[in-house]
This record gives sequence, structure tokens and C-alpha cells, in this order.
Amino acid sequence: MGAVARADWWQRADLGYRQGHLHFAGRSVADLARQFGTPSFVYSAERVRANLIRLHQALSEGTGRQDHRLYYAIKANRFAPLLTLLKQSGLCGIDACSPAEVSHALGCGFTAEDVSFTAGSLSRDDFDSLARYRGLHFNADSLHAIAEWGKRRPGSEIGIRINPAAGVSRASNQLLQYAGAQTTKFGVYREQFAEALSLAAEYQLQVSRIHFHTGCGYLSDQLPVWREVIDKCHWFLDRLPELKRVNIGGGLGVPHIASDAPLDLGEWSRIIADNFTARGLAVDVEPGDYLVKDAGLLVLGITFREKKRDIFFLGVDGGFNLAPEPAYYHLPFQPVALSRDESLPLSPMHVAGNINEALDVWYEDALLPDMSREEYLALLNAGAYSAAMASNHCMRGRFQEFILL
Ligand SMILES: Cc1ncc(COP(=O)(O)O)c(C=O)c1O
Repeated sequence: MGAVARADWWQRADLGYRQGHLHFAGRSVADLARQFGTPSFVYSAERVRANLIRLHQALSEGTGRQDHRLYYAIKANRFAPLLTLLKQSGLCGIDACSPAEVSHALGCGFTAEDVSFTAGSLSRDDFDSLARYRGLHFNADSLHAIAEWGKRRPGSEIGIRINPAAGVSRASNQLLQYAGAQTTKFGVYREQFAEALSLAAEYQLQVSRIHFHTGCGYLSDQLPVWREVIDKCHWFLDRLPELKRVNIGGGLGVPHIASDAPLDLGEWSRIIADNFTARGLAVDVEPGDYLVKDAGLLVLGITFREKKRDIFFLGVDGGFNLAPEPAYYHLPFQPVALSRDESLPLSPMHVAGNINEALDVWYEDALLPDMSREEYLALLNAGAYSAAMASNHCMRGRFQEFILL
């Protein structure tokens, strides 16, 4: 594969160059930038919908059952128009991790029955407010949560989030793992599981669900590790003969660089079928990244172009505070030019943000065409954990969001 082919690995039917100009969801990205200004996040409703449908189909085909449920992890992107659209699609509920996320989801059209809740370190006020939502699916992630929920809703059905002491993540990145050899704050371990079940029994809680989420961004290469994580979950399932469902969390990743092979959903759903459907369990999945990450671009204005020593820097009008994953988790967000002449060469440059921190470099050695006349640049995979995690660091927190219908 040549340099150009590798540099353009991300092109697909709804994202790529038409007559040399970058188009996304049927629109010229340069036109969007001129119209909206920068920094702007643009999200494609069609791409989100396609991602949802692909996941549903894989689960139906792999498991031969139709009773799986998808709960979109709202923490990935809480843009209200997107949420209302998801509700109207009828294709998913919401996975929430704070009472404010629950009320925001309800404000966008979801009902309490549509919401699966999993979080830790909940306060008394948090429990009081969550317990008022009749129909909300509550997953307790500690003994403390079982007892507090039991006091408020004795006799109800709950899920227990377990910690299988093994995790999976993109490129085995430890920063993206929620469980592993090291003890983490998430879920109930084997060592405390008997105590968890007796606490649940004390409050007549029916444990009808097991929940686990052990890391983020896994792709095909990590499926063998994911299988090992699931192997460790069976120990918990074996102790709950009345179990009805298993919530396998989120964590499904999307490619970030040319060498990332996309997640093989056929293989993924076969693993689910072998492990859970075979035991008569229905499956819940709560993806964030997989549904929205590759459905969003961050469009930035170019501020400067300058060689410093032997490195060419391209400056943009937005920094890591607008999309913190590259800085926090070392997840590369591929920069792409808004226009491209295939006959001209690409050259490496560092794309730098406008925040006064050394880590504020979006991408090192990005292969880009001559940028001397370009006004804008787009970063890929900015649909998840970007606007939702943005801060006002250096008082540069201003951005806009747009949904393309
Ligand atoms: C409990 C839980 N479920 C689902 C998700 C969504 O994960 P992802 O966006 O990787 O699919 C997260 C994210 O960290 C999570 O903590």
C-alpha cells in the first residue's frame, strides 16, 4: 500500500473526497466551516443510524434472538438533538451514569424504562433521585449501592456490575481499562460476590442481570482477550440460576489509524452467542464510541504554518480541551485536509492546538497535502468523548455543535 492509500484509510461512502473536496454526509465540509465558523463539531445522523442498525443486525444474526437491547452510553455525546433523534429511531435506550444524565435523557424524550443506570460513588441524594424513576434499570456496582438501593426499593429487580479482574481495550492500552490485574473501583469482585448476594437477599432484591464493562476501544485484534474476559464472567453467572439478562457493557471500538482492523461484528456476536445465548440469557449492550465516534468531525480553522527546527507545525484554533481523548488516552484523532489533489505529494506535519500546555499537539507527523492555502482542517472520530468532555481551559472552551440530518 502506498503512502496516499495509507493516508486515506478512513474514506468511506459518506466521508471522503469528491472532485478533490472533502464531503461528509453529503455536504462539503468547507461549506459547513464557512457557514458555521470554527471550532465546530458536525455529526451525521445517518451514520449514527447506520451504526445502530449494523449492531442490531449482527446481534440478531449471531444469537438468533431478537430480545437484545442497545442502551446508548450518553456520556459519549449528550447533544440534545442527537438524543431526540435516537429516541425517535426506536433503536436504543440510554445508558446513564449520573442522575443529571437521566433527567437530560428524559428531557430529550426517553422514558425511565428506556434507561439503564450504572455508576459508582453515588451519594444519598443520587440514590433518592434515582429511586424516584419507576422502571429505570438499576445496576449496582458495589455492596454499598445494593444496600442503598435495597433500602429505597426493596423487592425490586436489579443488576449487579461485576469485576472479572480482567480487561480489554484498544491496543491493550491500560489507560482505557476498567478491570485487570490491578484492583479498580468498578464493580463487585469474586471475593465480595457472596456478600453481595446475601445483601440483595436481605432486601428481597431479585438479581436478574449481570453487568460488566471492562474497557474501551477494542477491535478485532482484541477479540481473543475479550473472550478471556468473558470466560472469567462465567464464574458469576454460575452462581445465579435465576438470571435473565447479561449486560456486556460498551467498549466496541472504531479504527483510528490505518493499521486498525475494524471490529468483526460477526465474530463478536458469535462469541456472545456461544457464551450467553447458549445459556438462555438475553443480552444488553451499552455502546458509546461504536455508535457516535465515527459519526462526528471537529472542524478547526488554521491559524499558523511554520517550521521550527526540522518540524513543520500547523496551528489550529482549537486545543485538546475540546476533545481530550488524544491527550488523556493517547488516542489519535486523524487530521484530514478539506481539499486534496491526488497528483500532489503528502508531507508530515505536527498539528498543534491553541492551549498553553505542552501536551496540546493533536497529531505528530500527520501526512497532509500542501496546506498553504487551506483555511480549515477536520479531525476524525470526534463524535464521542469530545464535546461531552470539553473544558474551558485557558478560557478557550467555546465551540458549536451541528447535526446533519
Ligand atoms: C459502564 C459503561 N458502559 C458503557 C460505556 C461506554 O463505553 P464505550 O463508549 O467505550 O462503548 C462506558 C464508558 O466508559 C461505561 O463506563
